[in-house]
Amino acid sequence: MVKGSAGALVEIDEARLGGEGVLVDVSHSSLNYKDALAIAGRPGVIRADRLIAGIDLVGTRRDTGELVTVNGRGLGETHDGGLAELARVPEDWLTPVPERFTPAQAAAIGTAGYTAALCVLKLGDADGPVLVTGATGGVGSLAIMLLSSTGHEIAAVTGKPAEHDRLRELGASTILDRAEFEQPGKPLQPELWAGAVDTAGGTVLANVLSQTRYGGTVAACGLAASAEVHASMMPFILRGVALAGVNSVFTPRAERDAAWELLDRALDTSLLDAITTSITLADAVPTAQRMLAGQTTGRTIVDVHSSIAAAM
Ligand SMILES: NC(=O)c1ccc[n+]([C@@H]2O[C@H](COP(=O)([O-])OP(=O)(O)OC[C@H]3O[C@@H](n4cnc5c(N)ncnc54)[C@H](OP(=O)(O)O)[C@@H]3O)[C@@H](O)[C@H]2O)c1
Repeated sequence: MVKGSAGALVEIDEARLGGEGVLVDVSHSSLNYKDALAIAGRPGVIRADRLIAGIDLVGTRRDTGELVTVNGRGLGETHDGGLAELARVPEDWLTPVPERFTPAQAAAIGTAGYTAALCVLKLGDADGPVLVTGATGGVGSLAIMLLSSTGHEIAAVTGKPAEHDRLRELGASTILDRAEFEQPGKPLQPELWAGAVDTAGGTVLANVLSQTRYGGTVAACGLAASAEVHASMMPFILRGVALAGVNSVFTPRAERDAAWELLDRALDTSLLDAITTSITLADAVPTAQRMLAGQTTGRTIVDVHSSIAAAM
């Protein structure tokens, strides 16, 4: 799947991938919000004239046979990405896939799951209910699953009434309508949350900060609502609330490993399977459009071998 060829499927060979790094026979990639932006040709993600899209890959090292994954690092942004059968990447980008995950499950975790884990780690030992926004999305769903299996009480914010039951199955005990968070609120609202994972930004984030308890942390990773935040200083200076940014692309090795260790320890793979949809490379373009229109839920993985012959 090459950007610069209008989301086209094209033949690639080793020469196309350059001469340095480890060759990985890719089995799966995934579709993240960022991939959807790139595939739709929106500016700001792919910073090259012509590049293979895909910020995640899972596959087998050709030299050792080890199952590995890469999340971020510039994959699908400045470096040829994972929506292909073959990749060549610097060796220090590779993370071994924990044994209990299949290649499809590692792809379903992908950047969304690993970002959710980074957010959960930022919350430390939040003592009380934790709020998750964008709850039916990839990051939100995985954050709920991780928080639930690490013993937290979870409130989920969603704009999708039809998904309430599924969010309860993932581990949320309270479901809140996203509309309640979309209007500007008072700077200091009732202290409800010991911590929060926010994927929305904008007014949603401002309200989340205003509802966070004294000393709580809000891990902010997304901008599904807006990149602009107009928030009061009051939660910071009167309640000591901390706003912790998360950038999964350039996360150092130690934090990356800690996130994958948390996923290995705490993720319920049967729930993960239940929120995963598998598509072909050829399906990536229409699925990206649906993702940008907010019509997808959970995780979408791309089985890069499925239907390739038919699509070419
Ligand atoms: N910082 C990082 O390293 C990093 C890594 C991964 C993702 N992200 C960002 O995190 C966000 C979520 O990523 P994702 O992969 O989970 O995307 P996703 O699967 O497309 O989910 C996004 C969710 O956000 C909610 N949403 C949609 N439109 C919204 C709006 N206008 N206001 C508030 N919420 C809205 C929806 O959930 P509900 O309908 O349930 O509300 C949607 O399912 C994106 O902005 C993505 O770019 C950042």
